[in-house]
Amino acid sequence: MRKVMFFILLMAGIPLTLGTCSPKDDSVNTETPPAPNPDPDPDNPQPDNGRFLVLYFSRSGNTRAVANEIKTQTDGTILEVTPTTAYPSDYNATLSRAQQEISAIDNNGSYPSINTAVENFNGYDIIFICTPLWYTRMATPMQSFLNAHSQKLANKRVALAVTSTSSGISSVVADAGRLCSGSTFAGEALWVRSSQLGSVRETVATWLGTLDLNLNQNNVSSFDLSKGENGKAPTVRLSSGYDMPIVGLRTYSLHGNVCVNSVIAAIRRGFRKLDTAHMYGNEEEVGQGVRESGVPREEIFVATKLYSNQYSNPEAAIEGCLRKLDIGYLDLMLLHHPGANDVKAYKAIEKYVAQGKIRSIGLSNYYIREMSAFLPQVTVKPVLVQNEIHPYYQDTDVINYMHEQGIVVEAWYPLGGRGHTAALFNDPVIAGIAAAHGKSSAQVILRWDLQKGVVVIPGSSNPDHIEENISIFDFELTDEEMSRINALNRNEKHDWY
Ligand SMILES: Cc1cc2nc3c(=O)[nH]c(=O)nc-3n(C[C@H](O)[C@H](O)[C@H](O)COP(=O)(O)O)c2cc1C
Repeated sequence: MRKVMFFILLMAGIPLTLGTCSPKDDSVNTETPPAPNPDPDPDNPQPDNGRFLVLYFSRSGNTRAVANEIKTQTDGTILEVTPTTAYPSDYNATLSRAQQEISAIDNNGSYPSINTAVENFNGYDIIFICTPLWYTRMATPMQSFLNAHSQKLANKRVALAVTSTSSGISSVVADAGRLCSGSTFAGEALWVRSSQLGSVRETVATWLGTLDLNLNQNNVSSFDLSKGENGKAPTVRLSSGYDMPIVGLRTYSLHGNVCVNSVIAAIRRGFRKLDTAHMYGNEEEVGQGVRESGVPREEIFVATKLYSNQYSNPEAAIEGCLRKLDIGYLDLMLLHHPGANDVKAYKAIEKYVAQGKIRSIGLSNYYIREMSAFLPQVTVKPVLVQNEIHPYYQDTDVINYMHEQGIVVEAWYPLGGRGHTAALFNDPVIAGIAAAHGKSSAQVILRWDLQKGVVVIPGSSNPDHIEENISIFDFELTDEEMSRINALNRNEKHDWY
């Protein structure tokens, strides 16, 4: 009904007429600034923590959904801007009141009264301003809030998110520019049409990815291992807003029933992350294992990779991965290693992220030089890099570089790789520490990775080893033991990537 009425109005030219009203200049607005409400609603929560404040006004819930998503993905504080007098539930009555309020703002600098006031914005890196579009303009209660707080918002970073039925948001952007003239805008405004609300999670994730918020700047480099228990790995929050278990099963070299059974065995023993790749030739089996595991698909995090010979025709390759895995969406897609057209392939994955078919994007076998050349060419920062890392090839500089970028680091070949595990397991330092803890060498190495803030994906088809690999949460390596393993680095790479 609301939409019908809106289109009737559109047909009548009403939004167009109002949309062409030029906003008053700043002097008019500052002549009669409504003071911040001296008596804020005591029930109205005031922000007190977090790096991000998500402010929103919403009459009918659309903008609230967007704001809630931004809050969830940034772990921010949310605050609703409420009008002193609620808008009528009758849509037509709201339209005529809104029309009068916009005219009063434009003609007299007179803003409608609101209940919401914020003492100060100290401590917030970014203030998200989420508003509906009304007659092509910023909804009037949000205009009131910004007008009343423009000085407090000066020198702060703000980001704008707008919902509308169909009208473009340029006049709302202009309103925000006028009302927050002293603020810096972080990136482009987000525009969510009512018809796109079904994919709001992906839309917000993609947008946040363009704002360079370093959402994980504090937590991708160290994990809270106290949250883990044997058979249940803790998660790390990716910069896309999704959580990923920090222990997974790498399925390289697993095929046929061995692969299906290994996946099922791993899931039954508590693994919730699986790693495959086009190149491994087992995406069908991994998907089958997920479907037959008895665990709901959404509880399992599945990553796959495009190989370099697929980068030139990435859409067909992505479709192939989706079809073979056959588990609905993919949690993470990586590029297998740098190669011709890798940027093209990455950008194709970005489009699938926007459509909600893939949740996060990462890279594999990218080091500092490759990553610093790659990052300026893409819109959404990779959430993760998966590289060869083990005690004989520690690549600490690369780990530090990625962590500084808010990128999770994941180790493939954590146990040294084919033909090299025996040497690592029998290394006197590792074997000695393992004996001291009553653990296996594999468990000590995996624990060392986690304590360094590195995600692990050991591969195995042996159910006992699979169980062992996720039973690393009942002991802790001392600083001295960590240092002794750190000292084993030989810069000895075991594969060519
Ligand atoms: C007073 C009013 C005026 C509106 N004007 C427009 C308009 O000009 N163009 C448009 O596309 N949508 C218009 N809409 C629709 C809203 O922008 C859209 O439904 C929005 O998502 C509502 O957000 P909310 O649910 O958070 O209140 C209008 C809605 C109202 C209530």
